[in-house]
Amino acid sequence: MSDARKPELKKIPAPSGMLAELTYRCPLACPYCSNPLNMTGPETEMSTDEWRDIFSQAAALGVLHVHLSGGEPASRRDLRELVAHCAQAGLYTNLITSGVGLTKQGFADLVAAGLDHVQLSIQDSEEAGADWVGGYKGGYAKKHEVAAWVVEEGLPLTVNAVIHRANIARAGAMVDLAVKLGARRIEIAHTQYYGWALHNRAHLMPTREQSEIAYAEVEERRLRYKGVIVIDHVAPDYHAHFPKPCMNGWGRMTLNVSPIGKVLPCHAAETIPGLEFWNAREKPLAEIWANSPAFNAFRGDEWMQEPCSSCERKNIDFGGCRCQAMALLGDAKACDPICEKSPHHALIAEIAARDSSEHVANFTPRRIPKSKARATVKEQA
Ligand code: FES
Repeated sequence: MSDARKPELKKIPAPSGMLAELTYRCPLACPYCSNPLNMTGPETEMSTDEWRDIFSQAAALGVLHVHLSGGEPASRRDLRELVAHCAQAGLYTNLITSGVGLTKQGFADLVAAGLDHVQLSIQDSEEAGADWVGGYKGGYAKKHEVAAWVVEEGLPLTVNAVIHRANIARAGAMVDLAVKLGARRIEIAHTQYYGWALHNRAHLMPTREQSEIAYAEVEERRLRYKGVIVIDHVAPDYHAHFPKPCMNGWGRMTLNVSPIGKVLPCHAAETIPGLEFWNAREKPLAEIWANSPAFNAFRGDEWMQEPCSSCERKNIDFGGCRCQAMALLGDAKACDPICEKSPHHALIAEIAARDSSEHVANFTPRRIPKSKARATVKEQA
């Protein structure tokens, strides 16, 4: 970076990870997608050169891992070039993919370009359920193919399984499937309610009893498959006692870059009104990390209210999730109500009981709004 672009920086430890949302385009329509409801279309996406510049800046800033995500990152025709650039910059690359859109040769090209790791999503352990939730016939079979390519190429494979009411009875079976696919790690992620998942919460929320059975099934697999697969098990938020340390603390370790270059502390940060987000098309990444008002809004603990500000867990869970406090209480500085110390904790049990008792299945599938989707088709033609 030239001297003119070097910002006046505060002493803030460098981020170790960056989530690069290359595009919002995706052939799947999962109703729990964490992308925003009002997604931008391809006409506004950053170019290959813009992404290359951001990856170089990230490496210079101290980022070690880049998660290439979306949407579906394989929807970008320049994915191989972007992987190659990350590898040259010394970044560890993790491809977060549905598998749909990859070809065997295209995947081999990514490996040759320096891809380090693949995180493959699965929607269910059964074909009919998987293709229904993903809104893509043939998606389940495609994932089997892609997993085989990853194993053949000798790359580490992580399977990501999002759990919700329609597949929770098969949480244990999804671990079995990941073992069969040759994964070394599985993330069992009980749905977190942001973006499309928040919109579809009443269709996705399991009962407390279902969650407890699924939790026990997965923990049983941990013993059964010791030494075979590592199981990361994220507990269901709405049935927990303490909140998750969302993003490992706001602006502490990671940053997200959206398809149009907005640099965000987390994927849902734009749901918090009044935050000012800076754009990597306009400012250097290091300056954004250190000085952007959005990143500094909830750094450290000065912003905290009681009970967080005097809590012995404040450096463990950092007050929980700011976006969840905003979504559920209308106050991003409040203690995440998932926490049993929150004066609003009873609300969580009420929501969980109400939403899990509604027997509805017509969720809204994730999609780019119509006018922007038309641009997608035109661009791909
Ligand atoms: Fe934004 Fe948790 S998703 S802080």
